[in-house]
Amino acid sequence: MSNPLPATAERLTDVLDDALYEQYIRACDMTYRGTVDMFVLKAAYELGIFTQLAGQPQSVEALAAATGSRPNRLVKFTDMLIEMELLAKDADGALTLTPFARQFFLPPNPSNENLTMEPFVRYAITIMERYHVHLAKVIRGEMDFTALTPWPPKTREDSAFYEEIHRSNNHFVRNLLVAEADLDGVTHLLDVGGGNGDIAIALAKHFPGIERITLVNLPSALDIVRDNVAAHGLTDRITPVALDMYRDPYPACDAVLFARILYPFNAQVCAMLLGKAQAALPAGGRVLIADMLLRDERGLANYDYLAHFLTSVGVDPAMMTFKRQDEYFDVFQQLGFTDARKVERHGHVLYQARKP
Ligand SMILES: C[S@@+](CC[C@H](N)C(=O)[O-])C[C@H]1O[C@@H](n2cnc3c(N)ncnc32)[C@H](O)[C@@H]1O
Repeated sequence: MSNPLPATAERLTDVLDDALYEQYIRACDMTYRGTVDMFVLKAAYELGIFTQLAGQPQSVEALAAATGSRPNRLVKFTDMLIEMELLAKDADGALTLTPFARQFFLPPNPSNENLTMEPFVRYAITIMERYHVHLAKVIRGEMDFTALTPWPPKTREDSAFYEEIHRSNNHFVRNLLVAEADLDGVTHLLDVGGGNGDIAIALAKHFPGIERITLVNLPSALDIVRDNVAAHGLTDRITPVALDMYRDPYPACDAVLFARILYPFNAQVCAMLLGKAQAALPAGGRVLIADMLLRDERGLANYDYLAHFLTSVGVDPAMMTFKRQDEYFDVFQQLGFTDARKVERHGHVLYQARKP
């Protein structure tokens, strides 16, 4: 009788070591990579390295002169940026931005404004020293999170700060809505908490049958929306209105959209807001909820969500919560919506249902 033990034992060790190695990589990401990535980005942003290289490649010496850096130190730092695939060297040895850095770390411009990390990096490095490094004190209740820009925003400038951050990552949610929203036959859409209008603009262009989109936002954001809509020649179809989406009734319409509005709220708050939508809809009216997923369709945690959640840790009472996504189906049922369905893509999910 053959003894399978040695072979099995050998394989088992490999399997265990493979699994351990995967975990080690994950722990490295958390420990070393977390440290390196954010502090390198912070320094690169403060030195202005990405914007300096946006126009044309430069030698390290020229970059040192432009950023007020010591050349011998900058060489080491840019070598790191090359390892991190943020910089590369051209044929003459000059430093250039990689397409990855151009997309995600240049300030918003027409080619990246719907998908760039730069506004969040700019924000994160200002609050990091005031908040993140003191997180244990925050959790002990010795410190709170206080936003540098007032929330809720009061002036156009305040709203511009928040709307720029929302715009900087609306690419995937906007594309999901354009591809999957069931808006055929809809003539009046209500876009609740509609941001700067980018999503409404994309929907108006894709669905010519929509005659009117009423975009609900805070008073301080309305001129931002108006200017954006006017730049796309859609002033006659998209109207921003100042309503408090939590307190005010919603105007009559035949579809209501909540794009990245409901994801942080518990089922009770969602039911309250969806109830307002239901009251505004006729029979056959539709409701659409587009959310970020806490874990994407591959099972990867959403650190965009977690980064925002982290600031809510230091706010009492905390508005944000971790909700089981499929709770929407329970809420739809409870409110009497029918034909509920969902579709997931690129870290986002779209729920749709109808009022019978
Ligand atoms: C997370 S952003 C979502 C923006 C947009 N729907 C998107 O997905 O890009 C939330 C939006 O709701 C607006 N908002 C916040 N509180 C509001 C309130 N009480 N009433 C109306 N709008 C509000 C904000 O100004 C912002 O435009």
